[in-house]
Amino acid sequence: MKYYIATDHAGIEYKEFVKDYLKSKSVEVIDLGPMDSSRVDYPDYAKKCAESVREDTNSFGILICGTGIGMSIAANKVKGVRAALCHDAYTASMARAHNEAQILCFGQRVVGLGTVESILDAFLNTKPEGNRHTIRVNKIMNIEE
Ligand code: RB5
Repeated sequence: MKYYIATDHAGIEYKEFVKDYLKSKSVEVIDLGPMDSSRVDYPDYAKKCAESVREDTNSFGILICGTGIGMSIAANKVKGVRAALCHDAYTASMARAHNEAQILCFGQRVVGLGTVESILDAFLNTKPEGNRHTIRVNKIMNIEE
């Protein structure tokens, strides 16, 4: 399993923690930056991650900013991508089970590290339920056409 990760300056403190956690679960992680805490614009990193996930079939992404909101809005502008803003294990598992999200977004200013672990576990371990949910996901993707 391969995950691309990117943040802005308001999410960078969580980046190494998330990378280490994913690696401990034998997940391959590709860090798309930023590499220091200088102020950056989250849409640039959302685009980079969303395009990487779109181009690399079966890969996933994680985007972290202050709230997760800007990252999710920006990533969802990239065709073919479903990015979900999650606040807890329940929303993270539903993002996979019902929405077939490939990108997980959350906010460093919103969730604590214990919650981040449970969000990651839920996102990593939940499979799409398919059936009626896939029909709805296809309807979402048809909005792009
Ligand atoms: C940066 O201050 C902040 O606006 C950004 O990280 C994010 O929360 C935007 O949605």
